[in-house]
Amino acid sequence: MSVFVSFGERISPYAFLAVIFVLVEPVLFNTRDTRVHQRKKKYLSPAFSAKNLNDYEPHMSAQVTKLMTCITRHAQGNGEARIDFNEYCDYAFGKPFGFLDKEENHLNLITTIDARGEVLNAIGHLPGLLRPVMKYFYLDPFWPKGLQATSNLASIGKNAYYQRRDQQDSRKDLLSFLFNAKDPDTGSPLSETEIIAESISFIVGGSDTTSSTMTNVVDIVSRLPEIQKQLADELDKAFPGRMSAGWIAEFQPVNQLPVLNAVVRETMRLKPTSSTGLERVTPPGGKVIAGIFIPEGTLVSVPTLNIHHDETAFTVCEPGQSGSPI
Ligand code: HEM
Repeated sequence: MSVFVSFGERISPYAFLAVIFVLVEPVLFNTRDTRVHQRKKKYLSPAFSAKNLNDYEPHMSAQVTKLMTCITRHAQGNGEARIDFNEYCDYAFGKPFGFLDKEENHLNLITTIDARGEVLNAIGHLPGLLRPVMKYFYLDPFWPKGLQATSNLASIGKNAYYQRRDQQDSRKDLLSFLFNAKDPDTGSPLSETEIIAESISFIVGGSDTTSSTMTNVVDIVSRLPEIQKQLADELDKAFPGRMSAGWIAEFQPVNQLPVLNAVVRETMRLKPTSSTGLERVTPPGGKVIAGIFIPEGTLVSVPTLNIHHDETAFTVCEPGQSGSPI
């Protein structure tokens, strides 16, 4: 297989320094401790079950309606209005930050997440001992500014958390699961610090991913008239006479549409939102990867983009064939 495997550093005795860069405390996304991951998975998995995802739909539909209103209003101008779709997509789902109401990135959240992501991607390539001092490296503002953005994100996340906590409503969303979750080890409610840490990770993990995927879908489809036609035909057939201003499709029928789902999946293959390699650590005793023995405790990763563009990783299906979405 022609996939490039990058073998990173051995986990050094200073690995604990990496914890400094974890916002608040380690979360499901970034913990390297399998026991901690299993514990967190126990109380978080129900929040992502098919049934509960269905129950979030009314909140999401309300945001989609606002997004559609924004897009329609811009499109009804003189036809020359430029829509920054990325900005409108950001945070259209999940806990609303008010972008769609105010029609602007009023918390500077998008810039903050971008700056933070870039600096965290870069800092992982520096020796562990240098990492904590990079916020003082004023010769290159990339470092102090990006690291400042990580603290800003923590503040934005904490504020959003306190607002949601003080709402005291029974709205069912990811946070309501965390409020009601019991610590699998002790049976007690989760600590506020743990809830805040997990909810901040949702802001990054759940919004940037969806917004860039939606932006990429629109970008790719807008360049392919044949695909536009196939999509329009599929939607006309699935929802005859229902597509009008203010109408939002329900998830269940949309989930069954083969062309639409193939377009979204192919977009995520071509332009994965996490395109660099996600890191893993080789197990005790080491591991043979792509024919090379890698000693235990070594960081390894394969860039997602490379896997997605390697034909040996996929089975090509003809339309109608088993395994084909179309
Ligand atoms: C197009 C949208 C999305 C993409 C492309 C995406 C991508 C990913 C990827 C690649 C991982 C694996 C990370 C790793 O193994 O290191 C992951 C994990 C995760 N994602 Fe997403 N994600 C998306 C949407 C969301 C949303 C909306 C949420 C909800 C807040 C979410 C929550 C999570 C969580 C909690 C994990 C950690 C799971 C675990 O470690 O067991 N994701 N996502």
